[in-house]
Amino acid sequence: MPWRDWMRTVEIEPSLYAADFAHLGDQVRHLLNAGARIFHFDVGDGHFVEPVTIGPVVLRSVAPMIHQAGGVIDVHLMVTNPEHHFPLMKEAGGDSVTFHAEVCDEPWNAIALARSQTLGVGVAFNPGTSVQDAVAASLGADLVLCMSIHPGYSGQEFMHDALSRIRELRSQLHERVVVQVDGGITQQNVRAVHEAGADAIVAGSAIFGREDLNRAYLRLVRELASDD
Ligand code: DX5
Ligand code: ZN
Repeated sequence: MPWRDWMRTVEIEPSLYAADFAHLGDQVRHLLNAGARIFHFDVGDGHFVEPVTIGPVVLRSVAPMIHQAGGVIDVHLMVTNPEHHFPLMKEAGGDSVTFHAEVCDEPWNAIALARSQTLGVGVAFNPGTSVQDAVAASLGADLVLCMSIHPGYSGQEFMHDALSRIRELRSQLHERVVVQVDGGITQQNVRAVHEAGADAIVAGSAIFGREDLNRAYLRLVRELASDD
């Protein structure tokens, strides 16, 4: 299970979708220097989600820098035909692919396909999808991603009922399976999200919306460390 090998107990994952793309390389370098090692990369197709976001061209530009520093790239596929994109993401430098349960009738096939391409694999589910359905779809996956916003855009507000969904999800998965949360993470709610059971926590605007990314990243990390 590659995800458990990548994880240092709990991870804050910068979501590159929220970056300033005129300064992407510098921003990634700052975050690597601050200690970030798992980078979240949102691919939206303009169909499953409203916007077209970023894709293999951008992924290929940042992957070498991240890999050289010992980091990995977690690709969140907000698309209707995820399997088509697996080899494209692998070829561009992705290390893991997460597809949405809502678009996959045979998730076990998609999971096996990702594994055959030596990719880590996760299953994501939207606020309107039941935890039960997500758990059923995720058999054999490394990770389950509980969306705490409706996917599509960075900078939305955290949906508070996500906390009980995270708790329910955590209680139903094997401990080796990583629970990831994406959407609306702030310094104020990151600890509650972790305490509810998330160990991979994606943060977009909470990191990139600030002038000093380095400090913004470390502030989130320290918020989690402060309960030790
Ligand atoms: C949105 C993406 C998220 C987004 C998170 O659909 O999946 O990864 O970048 O951004 P914030 O943390 O600002 O909600
Ligand atoms: Zn995402």
